[in-house]
Amino acid sequence: VPSSPSSSSLSSPPPVILTQDELKKIAAYKAVEYVESGMVLGLGTGSTAKHAVDRIGELLRQGKLKNIVGIPTSKKTHEQAVSLGIPLSDLDSYPVVDLAIDGADEVDPCLNLVKGRGGSLLREKMVEGACKKFIVIVDESKMVEYVGGSGLAMPVEIIPFCWKFTASRLKKLFEDSGCVAKLRTFGEKDEPFVTDNGNYIVDLYFKKSIGDLKAASDAILQLAGVVEHGMFIDMATTVIVAGELGITVKNK
Ligand code: 5RP
Repeated sequence: VPSSPSSSSLSSPPPVILTQDELKKIAAYKAVEYVESGMVLGLGTGSTAKHAVDRIGELLRQGKLKNIVGIPTSKKTHEQAVSLGIPLSDLDSYPVVDLAIDGADEVDPCLNLVKGRGGSLLREKMVEGACKKFIVIVDESKMVEYVGGSGLAMPVEIIPFCWKFTASRLKKLFEDSGCVAKLRTFGEKDEPFVTDNGNYIVDLYFKKSIGDLKAASDAILQLAGVVEHGMFIDMATTVIVAGELGITVKNK
């Protein structure tokens, strides 16, 4: 008896739709394949990097990785790594990091990034700027044509002193791009979000492209009161993108 269209569709397995978190985990596990025993590792921050740190802890516990030294990029990652028994140190003791693995908020086709929506951009930039290889792990939703052009936040860490003054100078720098500068807050009382370094974050939103990223970076960093911004220009050496159709590895 020929099967009816409905019965044949019932017999084929349903398509597997992965959640965003499952994609993040796939990218993270792929990146950890690059880790070798004896490495000094930059440990990133955020929900994607958390999977990588978990995996490194697991491989250490199983004895499949040995003599790893981790350099965490936030207090939160520090706590996670301690709970997993990953030996930790810092850039003072290890100024050269073999490999860092971290997530990102946006990745452009040249592998420039926006980072810091989790608030850890300063330590991330210090650790990832000191590494020989920097692997970025993302799900495909993070891929953009232009960084800063998604309409989402481009974070800038600033000192709390006269933050309104610094925020207004940041806004003025990008007037032509329709910039809005907002202090990052949390909780019902809208208290300022304070970074691990005791600073504030101003999130910049642009209506139009900010153009040359290097020029934008230089202009931001010239403002007294600014500590660091979330554009990671020319820093990633590899980006691992997990999507519904599989993993893509993009190398610089
Ligand atoms: C934290 C970061 C994170 O890497 C970035 O926000 C991505 O986070 P997630 O992996 O949770 O999407 O830069 O400062």
